[in-house]
Amino acid sequence: MTAQLIDGNALARRTRDEVAGQVRTLLARGTIPGLAVLLVGDDPASQVYVRHKVADCESVGMRSMLARLPATLGEAELLARIRALNDDSTVHGILVQLPLPRHLDAQRVIETIDPAKDVDGFHVANAGALMVGRAGFRPCTPWGCMRMLEAIGCDPRGKHAVVVGRSNIVGKPMAMLLLQAHATVTVCHSATPDLGAFTRQADIVVAAVGRRGLIAADMVKPGAVVIDVGMNRDDAGKLCGDVDFAGVREALGPDGWITPVPGGVGPMTRAMLLVNTVQAAQAAAAVA
Ligand code: GUN
Repeated sequence: MTAQLIDGNALARRTRDEVAGQVRTLLARGTIPGLAVLLVGDDPASQVYVRHKVADCESVGMRSMLARLPATLGEAELLARIRALNDDSTVHGILVQLPLPRHLDAQRVIETIDPAKDVDGFHVANAGALMVGRAGFRPCTPWGCMRMLEAIGCDPRGKHAVVVGRSNIVGKPMAMLLLQAHATVTVCHSATPDLGAFTRQADIVVAAVGRRGLIAADMVKPGAVVIDVGMNRDDAGKLCGDVDFAGVREALGPDGWITPVPGGVGPMTRAMLLVNTVQAAQAAAAVA
């Protein structure tokens, strides 16, 4: 018997249905939730992500505004656009797709977004709010991973969670969310010797490095929950994660859980962006 699958598509569908209901309530009160998406340059993966985000907004009745900007765009111009969106009361969420072209300072760009519209949760004000346990936007990918744990009835309290990866987008906020949920958290990264020695102790493994085959079958404990945030291509060009899916699924046994790639974390990341955007619109409507 192999580990059970955490179905990201089904959970994302349920989440979108909830958001659609909240959107209908806002519409009835005269607020159309709106997300502005800024795409700078023509990174192929970013184009796909952005297209999905816009389609997701439509699917729940939200308005989206997509600006496709040239790779040569100057930083002053980008910051001016963001400031204009900050001042636009029909825009509740602002998302700048990353990565940005190298001549742009991503952190400075993100910090120009009004924290109340930072639905990615990347602004230092939101990162800091997470750090100290205050309300704020949580980054969509780790927030979606927490929803997945909840959906399978996995309470992190007292469990050992091993997060592999320390990015600002996934690894660090993931560790904070798990800590807030009372897990004992270990963060591993590229300079960690003998990664398996850590992951084999884990009740929960979150793999967020971007390297296929990173988590092999002999690196997990039977009965653990394995969440694969990786987005890679195999030799045949097929999408795959950081986890050796078939081998690890077998090694986890019938009491374990694993997310597939595709159909795991990705759909939940998209769904959580909608959750954050409707929340931003609710907050704006409450103070209007
Ligand atoms: N690039 C990769 N992931 C993300 C994300 O969650 N948000 C944004 N804005 N860009 C990304």
